[in-house]
Amino acid sequence: TYIVTDNCIMCKYTDCVEVCPVDCFYEGENTLVIHPDECIDCGVCEPECPADAIRPDTEPEMEPWVEMNRKYAEQWPVITRKKDPMPGHEEMDGVPGKLEKYFS
Ligand code: SF4
Ligand code: F3S
Repeated sequence: TYIVTDNCIMCKYTDCVEVCPVDCFYEGENTLVIHPDECIDCGVCEPECPADAIRPDTEPEMEPWVEMNRKYAEQWPVITRKKDPMPGHEEMDGVPGKLEKYFS
């Protein structure tokens, strides 16, 4: 599976949702997540993210991210259409500590 990691937070470019063939992105206030059980591992979303926030779970230490993506995907509404990124997305791209401060 692929998952959304912390650099999506406060950027939320949403280019990813347009290309997903199975519509498995879910939207919180400040970030998106992927439902890991719905993702078919096609990989097309990964290069679409300007924030480089989408990672495959084959990378090291991804299990906590998989669990977090699953947990919130089950609570948040699906998103299938691109929308404007968040205000301040350019300044927030790459800022450390986003998970602790802004995850929602
Ligand atoms: Fe959707 Fe494919 Fe990305 Fe999985 S890897 S979230 S199926 S676009
Ligand atoms: Fe987030 Fe990247 Fe999608 S910033 S909304 S994972 S395009």
